Amino acid sequence: MNRSATVVLFLVLNFALQFKTALAASTYNLPSTSLQDGPALLAGQASNSTALNAFGISPVSIASDGTYYVVLQAGQISFRAALDTGSADFWLTSTECTTSTCMSVPRYPLTYASPTFVSINNNETAFSVSYADGTGASGFVARETVEVSNVTVANQAFGVVTNSNITLVSEVSGILGLGFSRQSEISTRAANATPFFSTLAQQGILEYPIFGLSLTRNTTGTFTLGAIDVSVVQNVSQVVWSEVVPFSPVGAQTNTSGYFFWAIRMSSFAVNGTQYTPQPTYPGPSDNSSIALLDVGTPGLYGPYQDVTRLYSSFPSSRLVDESGQWAIPCDSSATMSFSFGDGTIFILEPTDYIIGPAEGNPDLCLSWPKASPPSADGIDWLLGTPFLRTVYSIWSYGIDYQEPPMIGLYPRNNASAPVQPFSVVESSLSSESATVATTLPNFVLSTPTYTTPSYAFNTSVPAVYGEIVQSELATSTYSPLIGTLAVNATALPQVTGAYTLFVTNSNGAVVTSTYHISQPLVTLGVPPGWSSAASRTAPGVGLAISILITLAAGIWII
Ligand SMILES: *[C@@H]1O[C@H](CO)[C@@H](O)[C@H](O)[C@H]1NC(C)=O
Ligand SMILES: *[C@@H]1O[C@H](CO)[C@@H](O)[C@H](O)[C@H]1NC(C)=O
Ligand SMILES: *[C@@H]1O[C@H](CO)[C@@H](O)[C@H](O)[C@H]1NC(C)=O
Ligand SMILES: *[C@@H]1O[C@H](CO)[C@@H](O)[C@H](O)[C@H]1NC(C)=O
Ligand SMILES: *[C@@H]1O[C@H](CO)[C@@H](O)[C@H](O)[C@H]1NC(C)=O
Ligand SMILES: *[C@@H]1O[C@H](CO)[C@@H](O)[C@H](O)[C@H]1NC(C)=O
Ligand SMILES: *[C@@H]1O[C@H](CO)[C@@H](O)[C@H](O)[C@H]1NC(C)=O
Ligand SMILES: *[C@@H]1O[C@H](CO)[C@@H](O)[C@H](O)[C@H]1NC(C)=O
Ligand SMILES: *[C@@H]1O[C@H](CO)[C@@H](O)[C@H](O)[C@H]1NC(C)=O
Ligand SMILES: *[C@@H]1O[C@H](CO)[C@@H](O)[C@H](O)[C@H]1NC(C)=O
Ligand SMILES: *[C@@H]1O[C@H](CO)[C@@H](O)[C@H](O)[C@H]1NC(C)=O
Ligand SMILES: *[C@@H]1O[C@H](CO)[C@@H](O)[C@H](O)[C@H]1NC(C)=O
Repeated sequence: MNRSATVVLFLVLNFALQFKTALAASTYNLPSTSLQDGPALLAGQASNSTALNAFGISPVSIASDGTYYVVLQAGQISFRAALDTGSADFWLTSTECTTSTCMSVPRYPLTYASPTFVSINNNETAFSVSYADGTGASGFVARETVEVSNVTVANQAFGVVTNSNITLVSEVSGILGLGFSRQSEISTRAANATPFFSTLAQQGILEYPIFGLSLTRNTTGTFTLGAIDVSVVQNVSQVVWSEVVPFSPVGAQTNTSGYFFWAIRMSSFAVNGTQYTPQPTYPGPSDNSSIALLDVGTPGLYGPYQDVTRLYSSFPSSRLVDESGQWAIPCDSSATMSFSFGDGTIFILEPTDYIIGPAEGNPDLCLSWPKASPPSADGIDWLLGTPFLRTVYSIWSYGIDYQEPPMIGLYPRNNASAPVQPFSVVESSLSSESATVATTLPNFVLSTPTYTTPSYAFNTSVPAVYGEIVQSELATSTYSPLIGTLAVNATALPQVTGAYTLFVTNSNGAVVTSTYHISQPLVTLGVPPGWSSAASRTAPGVGLAISILITLAAGIWII
């Protein structure tokens, strides 16, 4: 059972339900209260892999299929790469791939002979990924200097894709998998070929082995490495921490740490405050919570039939409308949905967070998240993708060898005590996003399908210990633990901000303070420095000539 394949399937397919998101212009502002009062450091202390204690921040944007990407540099060439916490490999489409799916995005130029490219085994170490929808990509493994959020790693192993039928949109050239090494295909193919974030953690490059994600429906999200974005997290004490669930080794995986997926235990879910206890597909001896995988590569929410059926029983006139596990609810349903983990703090989803859009043939009925899925042998019952992750700031702590298990911190962005969103807000949001789904729903009631539960995939003769402190594969033990299981000192986490304050004049001529966010750097994608029309590197050693332009709402450009 290959969970990452499933996850990337979601990433690639985006389900038959295309919801179109109105992409905003590249200028925007946040409420002026969003400047943090704690210490904020400037992004980008370090720019190469020998320089330690680096951290940085970069914009995150939404692609037309609802996935999220950052702009990174591979060999000083800029690419958009989709963020994925459900897989662990970094790959880019290359110029050797001439399929129509590859030709529609900027490709890594193999003819350029990047000075930082390092061959592995004469480019003959094969790499391939395949997905449950039948699409896949293949190529070879190599190394490059990779820079993300102003943090640079030399000799990072990556997949050079030479053949693919994976659909890529919005000029996104590949995927940056942020999962644990045990999920990585590339690390099984070449020696010391750790995934990107493992490299950062194991080499002690970052200020602290964490990354942070703020996701919006436009270009105002942020991705931080080694620090958290305190222009979003106003009060670090309100971050709710959960230990990542370990998985027993399977078969011959005797030396593995146990950490596998970015998954945590979900203790309850609720509709309008009516609380349900999840029914895990594989209940533990002492724990009835379910395992939820948090995945930025999945633009949806999924749960098992036994839970999703009960959740929709709280929505009058809701019904199953598709064998894929899709439910519809009246569009004017006014209810909050919530999930809670660990300490019981509830994380609220408002109707605009979980409603997908009205069905074209039945405009009063709206398709909605979550969808229901058949039981999965890996025991992961819930898959919480971007509709959930947009409602929180998420902090992903990789864990420290001998000292600290991996943890996920969630900071709520929705107000749990506010009244449920009125239908007028839902209506205008659906129309501004052109969210109508081109489908007509069946006019009869579908029966809930039944599935045979497969046997549990993980070897229980080697029990995985919850909150396990492991000896290898996480971050170097030279870090001092800040978010261990016994005590959390989150205020000591490195902080960075993508926001800055500006004094501007309003329409009445008065000077007011506004806080602006960093914007997507304007870069030319997939074009190397010194590149000319000739299909080779013409000016070796020419520095990166890409200016980072920051657009201010006032129309000022900073170069
Ligand atoms: C971008 O999204 C954020 C949060 O979803 C919102 O507050 C902001 O107004 C949006 N900005 C633009 C320019 O649409
Ligand atoms: C990136 O880091 C360099 C120093 O290594 C710094 O001069 C530059 O301002 C940083 N850029 C950003 C966008 O943080
Ligand atoms: C890399 O970092 C080291 C240590 O900070 C520094 O001495 C060196 O000049 C840096 N190299 C480059 C290419 O920036
Ligand atoms: C491997 O690929 C790189 C990039 O295309 C190329 O420069 C190099 O010559 C190749 N090496 C071999 C042995 O084919
Ligand atoms: C994608 O390519 C794989 C491998 O070549 C092939 O088996 C599969 O049928 C293709 N799928 C689609 C949807 O084209
Ligand atoms: C931050 O949150 C904590 C815990 O909820 C609370 O005790 C504290 O008063 C908050 N601090 C501020 C400045 O709001
Ligand atoms: C489970 O792990 C034990 C100990 O490593 C091993 O002896 C056994 O063969 C494994 N069983 C399966 C089904 O992989
Ligand atoms: C497991 O680790 C030990 C000690 O590092 C090593 O001797 C052994 O070869 C490893 N076994 C496997 C299957 O990798
Ligand atoms: C788990 O749930 C089942 C069914 O609701 C119940 O019988 C059992 O006692 C629960 N186990 C624990 C450890 O709470
Ligand atoms: C949820 O509560 C609101 C009032 O807070 C109510 O108007 C609405 O009908 C409720 N929705 C459901 C599905 O129970
Ligand atoms: C949350 O909502 C409640 C009720 O509307 C309101 O009193 C409170 O000020 C809100 N809190 C924040 C931080 O917006
Ligand atoms: C937590 O970290 C802050 C900032 O480094 C420090 O001032 C404080 O004393 C620490 N608290 C504990 C309990 O260690």
